[in-house]
Amino acid sequence: MRPLAHISRLSPYTPGIQPSGPGWVKLNTNELPYPPSPRVAEALKREVGADGASLRLYPNPTSAPLRTALAAHHGVREENVCVGNGSDDILNLLVRCLSGKSAAAGFTWPSYSLYPVLVAIEDGVAETVEFDRSMQLQVERIAGSRASGFFLTSPNAPTGVGFGRAEIEAILERFEGVLVVDEAYAAFACEDAVPLLSRHRNLVVVRTFSKAYGLAGMRIGYALADPEVIGWLDRVRDSYNVNRLSQAAALAALSDQAYYAPVIARVKSTRDRLVSDCTGRRGWFTYPSQANFVFTEPKNGAGQAGSAVAKSLYEFLFSRKILVRYFPSHALTAPFLRVSVGTDDEMRVLNESLDAWQKLKPIPNA
Ligand SMILES: Cc1ncc(COP(=O)(O)O)c(C=O)c1O
Repeated sequence: MRPLAHISRLSPYTPGIQPSGPGWVKLNTNELPYPPSPRVAEALKREVGADGASLRLYPNPTSAPLRTALAAHHGVREENVCVGNGSDDILNLLVRCLSGKSAAAGFTWPSYSLYPVLVAIEDGVAETVEFDRSMQLQVERIAGSRASGFFLTSPNAPTGVGFGRAEIEAILERFEGVLVVDEAYAAFACEDAVPLLSRHRNLVVVRTFSKAYGLAGMRIGYALADPEVIGWLDRVRDSYNVNRLSQAAALAALSDQAYYAPVIARVKSTRDRLVSDCTGRRGWFTYPSQANFVFTEPKNGAGQAGSAVAKSLYEFLFSRKILVRYFPSHALTAPFLRVSVGTDDEMRVLNESLDAWQKLKPIPNA
């Protein structure tokens, strides 16, 4: 018994640890540290009803009410929207539509590490545009790419660096394929690419309810694009790709922008404090973040940095039940840790542990 050769070779995506026991400070998967709008729990109760009878029935196959609400929210038409089981589902559909043995999918690197896995699942060709340590966008190289689809994360993961609308438009003006801008963290950024949709038919903007809306557990994401691209996604997706409860939760969250505005403002101000604490007080090189996480290069008490130092801090924090993310597989990411923005209490616990770690005797030869 054996699968296709490319499936045997495949290394799966590794999600961040989701601990089951109590007492963890979870700063590893960029979830919202605050609960979603109270309207979400009410909508879920309503949807389930007293006896769960509605669950016998399949959900709306196109998530039509949610498409309508999203279209109104973004000032586009319903034909410009497709909803998925998380934005990972949408990214998977886009890779399926755009990548194969004879059609490359491009992406910058380092970036969201799901893209190469999705391409490998299709046995497709991947084309990467490598960042240098500045993490600035290589507009010319992406614009000149021959890929049929290019996946750009903005703000980028795991760095948090955001790209300007003008740079993205400069790519769109010359790039001949479909540019997918993965805006999972757009709610925490200064700019987004949505206003470019009306001028560029080759743009797809991908969004999620997992981060700013606090609904990672419900799995809802969506694409905004030209009706032709939405048509491709609708041809390829599962017919009931978004369950009943997730559709109800997303509609309720979307209707309560007044709840989310101060929550997002709070995450941004905690993030800015964390960046200035890392760069200022600790003297750690840290990228400016437009997301809900911070990518920082820790230095130990002897002023040493590097991948062994980052690993030692990761392990120290883990031993204190603080989870952050460590990306050892690329030279540009290995000396860094990515820390999701938490509550004030979580940030206090983190800071106390960082202070304690900096006071430890440094590791030899780091
Ligand atoms: C850049 C990026 N895109 C997409 C996703 C996936 O989000 P979702 O929960 O909507 O599948 C993530 C999750 O961390 C991400 O970092």
